[in-house]
Amino acid sequence: MTLQIFRTKHIFSHDDQVDHVLKRCLSAWDLAFLGIGAIIGTGIFVLTGIAAATQAGPAVVLSFIIAGLACAFAALSYAELSSSVGGCGSAYGYSYAAFGELIAFIIGWDLLLEYGISVAAVANGWSGYFSNALSAIGMPLPDALTKAPKLGGFINLPASAIILILMGLLILGVKQSAKANNAMVFIKLLTISIFIGIAVFNVHPDNWHPFMPFGWFQTLPDGKTTGVLAGASLVFFAYVGFDAVSTAAEEAQNPQRDLPFGIVTSLSFCTLVYILVAGLLTGVVNYTQLNVSSPVAHALTLIGFNGASALISTGVIAGLTTVMLVLYYGLTRIIFAMSRDGLLSPLFSKVNPKTQTPVRVIVLCGIIMAFISGFIPLGDLAELVNIGTLAAFVLVCLGVIVLRISKPDMERSFRTPFSPLFPVLGMLSCGALMGFLPSITWLRFIVWLVIGLIVYFGYSIRHSKLAKSA
Ligand code: ALA
Repeated sequence: MTLQIFRTKHIFSHDDQVDHVLKRCLSAWDLAFLGIGAIIGTGIFVLTGIAAATQAGPAVVLSFIIAGLACAFAALSYAELSSSVGGCGSAYGYSYAAFGELIAFIIGWDLLLEYGISVAAVANGWSGYFSNALSAIGMPLPDALTKAPKLGGFINLPASAIILILMGLLILGVKQSAKANNAMVFIKLLTISIFIGIAVFNVHPDNWHPFMPFGWFQTLPDGKTTGVLAGASLVFFAYVGFDAVSTAAEEAQNPQRDLPFGIVTSLSFCTLVYILVAGLLTGVVNYTQLNVSSPVAHALTLIGFNGASALISTGVIAGLTTVMLVLYYGLTRIIFAMSRDGLLSPLFSKVNPKTQTPVRVIVLCGIIMAFISGFIPLGDLAELVNIGTLAAFVLVCLGVIVLRISKPDMERSFRTPFSPLFPVLGMLSCGALMGFLPSITWLRFIVWLVIGLIVYFGYSIRHSKLAKSA
């Protein structure tokens, strides 16, 4: 059983056919595991610490609940569009159906940001635990080689290196099966269980006071934001990836029943895990001690569990590697789709005859992402991912409403309940989370969109195959 979204070899050479030959082999639980595999990563293992220490304090638990709710509304809209518009293009494909080419291009461009920067962000989280593991065996790397310049280092070398290694694997055409995904999910859950098992007996309730040291929301003089709501807009990153379930729509045995189950189960499960881990993490040590690159392992070291700390670092290193692989693959897939549609240069959809993978795209993305992950700190990267992802979620929710009006007879095997209320709540909550992000993130996002518009009007509009065929 091989998942479509995990394939790298062969898929690029006959992409159009793949959708038609896929076997409907994924059960509801496979889909739920697929979601959990893509969701649990740097967000919970690293950002929880940063958000607790600098934005929410122990109330980071509330930040997780708020971000989870916004995702739940968006997830239901994803479920409807994946079961009606379908295809594996995710929000890019849905936007094309609902809004036409320009918005679809913008969303595709936005997804490039989401996936590309996510890989760089998760690589940063990976590097934190990797460096922690090296220190544990007495071979610490100097700060200059593990931190971005903004954090007092020179380059985050392990982060750049892991991306270049993954680049090599993707060029070779690594395949990942549902079995391998389930094994990885198991390792991640085992890692989390070890933490929970130890932490639950080492909580000092004093650490939960004050519960909300930074209040709900405030903007600092330097433009940064803080408080529980700002924390929610940062830890939102921990939920990024559930949309991967929607890309497996055509492989679900019974999409109408299984897709909503997969999406809702993986989201609810992760939300519960996140609440538990965040609550315990801020209970075993004081939140002020968590602004480090490997907070879960660090907390265990602080309370004297060095062996468990090393074990957890190993589990996280393995778990995050697959998250990066899935996101990196997703990125090349979106570029490939946009290039095939004529919106980006055909050079990007060229498949290397020997490896049957789009080597150029993989190398180009790998070098850019390795550079970004080496020089930009995790917090900045995660916020940029979040603003892009939230923008896509807003449009997906709007897409449900627009398509219900413009194409009322389209077959919808799954319908978002309480429409248009839920999609509207999704737009409002995701829009609000965007509003809680700092102004510098908005600026970066706008610059990215402006570059996108230049590409669209300078190139894509004249080369679009879709427009010609329409
Ligand atoms: N949700 C994924 C993570 O936290 C992207 O790493």
